[in-house]
Amino acid sequence: MRLASWSFALLAFGASGCSVDETLVDEFFTPVEWEKVQTLSPLPDVPEDTTNRYADDPRAAALGQRLFFEKGYSGPLKLGAPETKGGLGTKGQSGRVACASCHHGTWLIDHRSHPNNASLGTDWIPRNANTVINAAFYDPWIENDGVSDSLWADALVDPELDIAMNGTRLQVAHVLWDKYRDEYDAIFDTALDPSLDAKDENHYRFPAKGKPGEDAWKEMTEPDRQIVNVIYANFGKALGAYLRLLVSRDAPFDRYVEGDHDAIGESARRGLRLFVGKAGCVACHAGPHFSDDAFHVNGLAPVGPNINPKETGREAAVRALLENPFNSSGPYSDDRSTGRLDDLSVSPELRGAWRTKGLRSVAETGPYMHTGQLQTLRDVVAFYNEGGHEAGFVGAKSDKVKPLNLTEQEIDDIVAFLETLTGAPVPVALREDTSAK
Ligand code: HEC
Ligand code: HEC
Repeated sequence: MRLASWSFALLAFGASGCSVDETLVDEFFTPVEWEKVQTLSPLPDVPEDTTNRYADDPRAAALGQRLFFEKGYSGPLKLGAPETKGGLGTKGQSGRVACASCHHGTWLIDHRSHPNNASLGTDWIPRNANTVINAAFYDPWIENDGVSDSLWADALVDPELDIAMNGTRLQVAHVLWDKYRDEYDAIFDTALDPSLDAKDENHYRFPAKGKPGEDAWKEMTEPDRQIVNVIYANFGKALGAYLRLLVSRDAPFDRYVEGDHDAIGESARRGLRLFVGKAGCVACHAGPHFSDDAFHVNGLAPVGPNINPKETGREAAVRALLENPFNSSGPYSDDRSTGRLDDLSVSPELRGAWRTKGLRSVAETGPYMHTGQLQTLRDVVAFYNEGGHEAGFVGAKSDKVKPLNLTEQEIDDIVAFLETLTGAPVPVALREDTSAK
């Protein structure tokens, strides 16, 4: 194949009489197809996030990394399970779960929970843990249902979610005071309140645990609740700054688009052509992070252990997002004018829709879909080849998902293409447990 393209290049050279075009169009692609291919690479800088003033502050990111590995703010396990089954301890034990419990290893996914489709924290989360690598490219909807409209606000979900970390914002505030006070005070405008100290005479102002809905929280004064909310938002902003550094680029596919003809094989090139053509994948997996940042019903009937087949995805998420005080137009946002929430309302076509997943490094981050029910990339492509499942999913299937009539070879080709999307791993230093011991 190399020879054929070489002669193609020579032909082009001969015909135009000038040097070979820097962009590569080999015999697989028509100019129209190649134009589509070029919309998928290279991966740009992460989009800015004006709602987080500390988004690009390296000190905030360093604190965020420490907090990513910190277990101290997690609450009691609701479900005990032995380590061999992925458990984190016995029922009732506290301080056992960190973000890194579900986002670990080279690709920051969950290799621990067994069976491995859904993730076990303080209890089962009915979803498969996404990689947090390249999550900063989702703009702006974070999570499979887009329940958050910024990374920093997303980092505030799991610490208080009973089935994830089962902690509270007051615990977060105390852990920051006890272990990370100097760093926190150096980064953020308002220093931590000294009454967070257990030895302070006004310590009663900030109970050890509590979040909205709980008695301890209700009994606090409104100004003290505000103090804790600001601390909690800053905690999220530090984690958000860290998550923005978790970027993987320079996949063989990128080198190919750049002009390195041999960076991907022949089967992968055929798969790429199907991806942007006959198989229609690019209709949703668009742009350099391979997601249109939109929500679709792709016709997956949810099955598997610890899954909730009735989840409505985007519909429930929009409701939660509009009510979330930590959303981009709320009082803790550093830029309330982004318009992210304009035109957002709960509507029937959102029922059962999920965010298009990005596909970079997808060969490393199985199992697949929000339910983790498809084990291999071949399973995924076979699923799309059938036009999705016939029934058993919530909502109305997108008309972009229909039977594709791919041959076995074509299915293999698309898989081979997806395997060329694996970029360089994030630096080891960013995956080190730097939490305070
Ligand atoms: C018990 C396991 C668990 C823990 C602990 C956990 N996560 Fe996750 N994480 C998940 C799962 C499952 C998903 C997918 C959730 C969904 O579909 O809504 C996810 C998704 C995410 C995403 C979204 C990525 C994307 O594709 O949009 C981010 C960001 C994230 N987690 C960050 C964190 C941070 C920060 C913490 C700690 C404060 C944390 N996670 C703790 C399991 C966990
Ligand atoms: C109608 C829009 C749409 C089309 C067309 C589409 N996808 Fe998807 N894709 C999605 C959505 C939405 C998800 C996430 C579904 C979920 O989490 O349940 C997804 C998930 C995936 C995943 C799983 C990624 C992961 O990390 O779990 C892969 C792989 C994938 N698609 C590949 C493809 C391929 C290959 C094609 C073409 C044959 C294709 N998709 C066509 C919308 C689409």
